[in-house]
Amino acid sequence: MTLDVVVLAAGQGTRMRSSLPKVLHRLAGKPMVSHVLDTAGKLDAQRLHVVVGHGAEQVREALRDYPVRFALQAEQKGTGHAVAQALEGLGNGKVLVLYGDVPLIRRETLAGLLAQVSESRMGLLTVTLEDPSGYGRILRNESGEVVAIVEQKDASEQELAICECNTGIMAMTAAQLKRWLPRLSADNAQGEYYLTDVIAMAADEGVAIATAQPVDAMEVEGVNNRLQMARLERAHQMHIAEQLMVAGVALLDPSRLDVRGQLNCGHDVEIDVGCVFEGDVELGEGVRIGPHCVIRDSHIGAGTVVEPHSVIDGSVAAGHNRIGPFARLRPGTRLAVGAKVGNFVETKNAEVGEGSKINHLSYVGDARLGRGVNVGAGTITCNYDGANKHHTDIGDDAFIGSNTALVAPVSVGRGATVGAGSTISKDVPDNALAVSRGRQIGKADWPRPARKNAD
Ligand code: UD1
Ligand code: CA
Repeated sequence: MTLDVVVLAAGQGTRMRSSLPKVLHRLAGKPMVSHVLDTAGKLDAQRLHVVVGHGAEQVREALRDYPVRFALQAEQKGTGHAVAQALEGLGNGKVLVLYGDVPLIRRETLAGLLAQVSESRMGLLTVTLEDPSGYGRILRNESGEVVAIVEQKDASEQELAICECNTGIMAMTAAQLKRWLPRLSADNAQGEYYLTDVIAMAADEGVAIATAQPVDAMEVEGVNNRLQMARLERAHQMHIAEQLMVAGVALLDPSRLDVRGQLNCGHDVEIDVGCVFEGDVELGEGVRIGPHCVIRDSHIGAGTVVEPHSVIDGSVAAGHNRIGPFARLRPGTRLAVGAKVGNFVETKNAEVGEGSKINHLSYVGDARLGRGVNVGAGTITCNYDGANKHHTDIGDDAFIGSNTALVAPVSVGRGATVGAGSTISKDVPDNALAVSRGRQIGKADWPRPARKNAD
């Protein structure tokens, strides 16, 4: 059977107190609804549908890269009404209903639920909670079969004591849904078309209701306010930290790690506290990351040490590099094996050859450095003339004295030496010395000006 996934994302999320639609609030760096769609995408669904309402345009725009069909629910008349908006676009296989504000649902849990669905059976994901308040309660008959769901606001005293709750997530065939949804009524405490009422219809028809539970209760937690958002974020980060540790990564404190994307690590990687990883980051074998580093979309090769407070973005370190403390590698930085970038050094679109060193207080942008180059403290590539960017090329084994300004476009030849304090605006040939600075003068026994007597 084919699969259609319907994600409800029309609610306002008043309690977020935000102008951003609730489902676009970010968890681990990604909108909640994108987590749901990414998980749904792993289920081999034929079609993904998103029901939008509040902030519909913003949600559509945020999801423009996803292959989804949008259904508009102009007025929020309940979860059953919401699913009905997507009814026309459904195929004739299975349908899975998910929620844009329940971001941590896992593929395995959903696959288990979907496996239950047939023409004579539907699947319902339930969770047993110590404090079930607010949730719809699962009603079962004497034989333990599910017969209905009753919402908190419609429940009797006895029903309120039931701890098995509706997660909202359910799966059935499109044919069943097409039979049941048009028959929903809004005759209840909230005057809404409840999706949950299809359960009683299924039971009436003799369609069996198979229940499944999530592996982890966090999977079915919804977000209504920023407190819940923060709790889910921590739970999710701890889950990532645990997976990393099981895979052999040493985390000095698993509760002080943030991964907002995909972090892949080789063996014996060690990560100190307070680091943030964004986008796709790969850390090779034995890489050590010091405290409070931010690394985004980068590959850090084996044996590299990143010292504290470094920021690395869109860069590649080939391996056995030393970076930081306080280094900033901007996009397009390529460090060859053994290259070093020290404190207060900024690089951008810069290729740094094998074993080359930029150890202190420099800016190297739009440049290529050969191997064995030594760049002295305070060296600046003046790559921008106010209109265009220009390139600097430094040959193998060149030595750039401290406080040099390299006015691009310019090249320094192999084995060339630039004297400290120079402003280099002309190419320096291989093996030459270039110095450009005011000559030092000396006056022997020079009397320092004396302070005038104040009267
Ligand atoms: C719903 C369930 C309840 C379950 C709970 C789990 C119903 C009637 N009740 O209650 O049994 O225990 O979820 O969290 O289904 N939405 C729309 N359009 C609407 C209404 C809702 O898109 O017209 C979306 C909301 O944005 C939200 C989700 O559906 O993401 C759930 O809606 P909500 O109003 O929060 O339902 P609950 O009252 O929590
Ligand atoms: Ca809710």
